[in-house]
Amino acid sequence: MRVSREPVYVHRRRRLGAALLVAVVGTLAGFGSAEMASRVLGTDDPAVAALVSSPAGEATAASSTAEATPTPTPTPSPSADAASPVAPTPEPSPTATAAPAFDLTALSVDDPDSLWVVVNKRRPLDPLDYAPADLVDVSGVPGGATMREEAAAAMQGLYRAAEEADAAFSITTGYRDRGLQQYLYNGYVAESGQEAADRFSARPGYSEHQTGLAVDIRAGACELEPCFADTAAGRYVAEHAWEHGFIVRYPAGAEDVTGYIYEPWHLRYVGARLAAHMHDEGIATLEELFSLKAAPEYR
Ligand code: DAL
Ligand code: ZN
Repeated sequence: MRVSREPVYVHRRRRLGAALLVAVVGTLAGFGSAEMASRVLGTDDPAVAALVSSPAGEATAASSTAEATPTPTPTPSPSADAASPVAPTPEPSPTATAAPAFDLTALSVDDPDSLWVVVNKRRPLDPLDYAPADLVDVSGVPGGATMREEAAAAMQGLYRAAEEADAAFSITTGYRDRGLQQYLYNGYVAESGQEAADRFSARPGYSEHQTGLAVDIRAGACELEPCFADTAAGRYVAEHAWEHGFIVRYPAGAEDVTGYIYEPWHLRYVGARLAAHMHDEGIATLEELFSLKAAPEYR
């Protein structure tokens, strides 16, 4: 299942950094949107909305609805009891003290405001022009970006830990709105063709970056390249990102599940509990975790 690197992607890698810079500048100049400029530059100061809580009622992950539905206990008939004075005493349930299973229905996988939202080629953001309400600057991390408030705080913690371990990194981009994603995708298609571009760039409305929960990081010259995995920063986040609530969203060899080549630089915030659960269970993708359909292609 491991993805081999193909020439077109190698070609892309040489120009990706420059393309991103052009994209940002082009977006600011070409789109002429003050709102977009403030998001891209991370200088906005949006009101901080309440964080997503855990309303069990909004859960929709198909895989675990059964475990979340309690089995009704039959009510004994009083008349039957009266007629059976020597009825045996029920044994205590051996499962009464068992640890509760991880509740995969605790948060929605559909709501774009949910920390567990699953976005892929089969699951666009709804609405397509979704924008988070609680974007903040990721201050203190080189490169800078905006992300949703909880994700930004977690990224700061991950950066401090990485820096202490001599594995510092910089941010390439965090939140990207639909317009910026469109601009980037169009550039990749023009450069590499649509088939190749679809393996490493999401179409607008289909990118995790639009949720404010994803971030691309770089180390030295290894920016948006497979070599990032072999840097101190790449090794550090592969081993420790989960401790801060992040997963490497596009693991090696999972293109037929996620729809994307190995991206060791793309981290997705899912919260500390879910990231720890995935780590402990050895589950690498959100599609497998939530028993969602694989998304190798747009439907
Ligand atoms: N590179 C990822 C798939 C994105 O464009 O969102
Ligand atoms: Zn990314």
